[in-house]
Amino acid sequence: MSGGPLVSVRGVHRRYGSGATAVHALRDVTFDLAPGTMTALVGRSGSGKTTLLNIIGGLDRPDSGTVLVDGTDVTALDEDGLSLLRREKVSYVFQTFGLIPVLSAAENVGAPLRLARVPAAERERRVALLLELVGLAAHAEQLPGELSGGQQQRVAIARALAGSPRLLIADEPTGQLDAETGLSVMALLRGVVESEGVTALVSTHDPTMLALADRVIRINDGQLDGQLDGQSDARLDGQSDGHPGVQLGQHSDGRLDGRLDGHPGVRLDQRSDGRGES
Ligand SMILES: Nc1ncnc2c1ncn2[C@@H]1O[C@H](COP(=O)(O)OP(=O)(O)O)[C@@H](O)[C@H]1O
Ligand SMILES: [Mg+2]
Repeated sequence: MSGGPLVSVRGVHRRYGSGATAVHALRDVTFDLAPGTMTALVGRSGSGKTTLLNIIGGLDRPDSGTVLVDGTDVTALDEDGLSLLRREKVSYVFQTFGLIPVLSAAENVGAPLRLARVPAAERERRVALLLELVGLAAHAEQLPGELSGGQQQRVAIARALAGSPRLLIADEPTGQLDAETGLSVMALLRGVVESEGVTALVSTHDPTMLALADRVIRINDGQLDGQLDGQSDARLDGQSDGHPGVQLGQHSDGRLDGRLDGHPGVRLDQRSDGRGES
């Protein structure tokens, strides 16, 4: 998959119900996402954002149309294929954080690695690195209930990055946060797109978030109603550069994985160099 889009959405329709009461949640939605970019998906409540994100992430299926993620047609996958997709290529950040309340921040971040049977020592190294990346190294042992909303969302972002996904889907990740905290969470996402080389698709209805995206896709009543290409002056690079949690993750090659290259067993990403390294 070099050179091409990471995500390709073609002619996607999704209808809920049938007959006179049918809701056309998505109508002929078509777009691509370039790898390593952050795209904001904007639209008012009920416009189809969650439906679209869930279809791209393999949580829901379209009535027609196709979705390619990193070369895989997610609309053609069976349940096993979908769980593999969610484990290896696509991860989610939700508005409500979705952390496991009885697990510490570190245990929450490490949960996907445990599932992937990554050995404990490697898991701990990776978790420590991820908590540092999101600026929460000092809070590793705290339970979600002992953290602020913004901190909980940072833990959720670290967890989403644990398996080195190609695509990070965030459905209104700042929806439950105050404006300032929301902006810092968005800046963190911006930062991990840079440092991890991940591709992010982030829904929001908050226009102040848009400046951090490379690109804005607007959805209205299930239809894309225009796409602006973000210009470099709209990216507010200075803001994310100023974030300490983001800077900690940046290395000479600009990727967190770079830091792990000396420990091949730790690498979970399976982008180009085959499977089962760990
Ligand atoms: N499970 C469902 N059953 C019926 N209608 C649904 C369902 N989920 C979403 N919808 C409808 O589809 C449309 C798009 O919803 P959604 O994708 O959740 O929008 P958004 O995330 O932008 O708020 C809305 O009209 C919503 O009421
Ligand atoms: Mg929604």
